[in-house]
Amino acid sequence: MWFMRQAGRYLPEYRAVREKAGSFLDLCYNPELAAEVTIQPLRRYDLDAAILFADILVVPHAMGLPLKFAEGEGPVLGTVRSMQELDRLKPVVESYEVRQVCRTVALTRSQLAPHLALIGFCGAPWTVASYMVGGGSSDRVMAKVAAYQRQPWFCALIDRLVQESIDYLSAQADAGAQAVQIFDSWAGDLVASELEEFVLKPLAAIVAGVKSRHPGLPVIVFARGIGMGQRKAAAISGANAIGVETEYDLTELPKDVVVQGNLDPVALLAGAEVAATEVRRICAAVDPQRHIFNLGHGIRLGTDPSAVGAVVDAVRRCDG
Ligand code: CP3
Repeated sequence: MWFMRQAGRYLPEYRAVREKAGSFLDLCYNPELAAEVTIQPLRRYDLDAAILFADILVVPHAMGLPLKFAEGEGPVLGTVRSMQELDRLKPVVESYEVRQVCRTVALTRSQLAPHLALIGFCGAPWTVASYMVGGGSSDRVMAKVAAYQRQPWFCALIDRLVQESIDYLSAQADAGAQAVQIFDSWAGDLVASELEEFVLKPLAAIVAGVKSRHPGLPVIVFARGIGMGQRKAAAISGANAIGVETEYDLTELPKDVVVQGNLDPVALLAGAEVAATEVRRICAAVDPQRHIFNLGHGIRLGTDPSAVGAVVDAVRRCDG
């Protein structure tokens, strides 16, 4: 059991460290403070794993695109909308940004109790590309149009992100990450052949590339919102586990698939009772031997930390 965004603004101890760091990005690139916030939720809750504190936009930033998080407005990122702009981007592995993230991984691993796992991550090519095309906006229309048109620069951007993601996840594994998750938060935007081309194939290529360098490293693929496509993701991605969105009925996956998810983050806003009922429903539906308990998306801002505690307790009670 672990939770997406288990470290973050809903925790007062996180807000205190974030204040000390300055900006969100200063925190991402400060290994001591980033390790501290990675570990904070494990001090509060009986979880099994920590998730590296960083952001999916570290990769385009490390490739050389300017990035800023304007308070309350979300990210502002330099754009890539042509082959020339793509060709100017640098490899991530030698960058200051990725070196700092890997220092966070190593430092967190050295500070985390041995029985707790450290999960590294990256954003998936489709989701990251949608921000690179849209300049940090969550409006993915321009990226979708480029995908439908099979614009050569867009296809090359996806291929480039596949390679950079393999290097980035391998570097995290070298630094001490014991599993990795690929976040395709906007995978649900695409259907049919676009889903295949820009979500499923790139995810499978990253899994294969990472496993060629780190054969034993467990990889979790989280293609959020693809519904019926989850079966295909399980069949072709090569992942060890399939993360599923809240809306997905996790009994739909074949019995040999390890499934991660999928409590509704909004249930935690509805109170401890509601959340515990949902936990029991999910735990009863799937074999605990092939289940990684998680949410269907990240913990929301404004969640009461005690609701998270109630969920953890309810899951532990289901474990018997
Ligand atoms: O589960 C995890 O904690 C893994 C790390 C992670 C974060 N963000 C940490 C974070 C991951 C996988 C993400 C995903 C992400 N980040 C996406 C994909 C969509 C999604 O929600 O899944 C996007 C678009 C981003 C870019 C980003 N980072 C946004 C839009 C924001 C909110 C900005 C704002 O001002 O409201 C962030 C900040 C961010 N990333 C926080 C965390 C914990 C909040 C931290 C803070 O503001 O102090």
